[in-house]
Amino acid sequence: MAGKLLELKDVSKAFGAHKVLDRISFGVSAGEIVGLLGPNGSGKSTALNVISGFLPSDGGEIRLQGDNITNVSAQRITGHGLVRTFQLPSMPHRMTVREVLQAGASGNASLASMLKPFRFDDELDELLESFRLTHVADLPASALSGGQKKLLSVATALRSKPKLLCLDEPTAGVHPNLRSDMVTILKRYRDKGVAILVVEHDMLFIRELCSRCVVLDRGEIIADCAPRELEDNARVVEAYLGKAVEKGKVAL
Ligand SMILES: Nc1ncnc2c1ncn2[C@@H]1O[C@H](COP(=O)(O)OP(=O)(O)O)[C@@H](O)[C@H]1O
Ligand SMILES: [Mg+2]
Repeated sequence: MAGKLLELKDVSKAFGAHKVLDRISFGVSAGEIVGLLGPNGSGKSTALNVISGFLPSDGGEIRLQGDNITNVSAQRITGHGLVRTFQLPSMPHRMTVREVLQAGASGNASLASMLKPFRFDDELDELLESFRLTHVADLPASALSGGQKKLLSVATALRSKPKLLCLDEPTAGVHPNLRSDMVTILKRYRDKGVAILVVEHDMLFIRELCSRCVVLDRGEIIADCAPRELEDNARVVEAYLGKAVEKGKVAL
């Protein structure tokens, strides 16, 4: 895995007796978009929490640009250029959408903004426009719909100029038209060298966006392959449906 921007080696995490991540290893290169997939409860959000320093791991090693970031604080990991969004983004009360984006006050982008000079620039308006948030820019961020909060949290994360962007279900609740806009925007950042690790259930989004998918099931990696190879992978199909299925009978 030499040269990867993010490298996980044998990373484990348990809650009491429940092993949620069992020695998982994978990497993400600069300019690569990797999907982190798996059925509900398979450990995807836990993996993002451990990678971003929001939860301590129980074992293994995580490196970002070669630096060992295992069990380093979330704030320091953010300082290394890892910015993430949450499955359920919470927005600060009494701040407008524009102010949240300006201050980077969503997810750990707020930590990133503390480490960077405060900026006013055209990029803010461009981000509002790209994510179709201009018409709600002066409304309280807490009043946005679930889908709009997702969009704002992704926009805020991008504004922090991450080297690695970790997204937890960024399209849940987002209108289908905006999903394809998000694909275009994220690819533009990828082309500038940003690495993206994205947890997502929408397979169309995954196929359009990702060059590789890592699939978790009960805390283990059961596949690390191109998106088009998933539906022919018996372990993946079985993990999603809970039983063995004849090849080609399921569209993931
Ligand atoms: N803080 C926690 N304490 C105890 N169990 C947890 C905690 N966070 C997650 N879990 C459990 O770990 C498993 C994986 O959860 P999660 O990583 O959220 O799954 P996913 O994101 O793949 O749906 C689930 O069984 C969940 O109940
Ligand atoms: Mg989750």
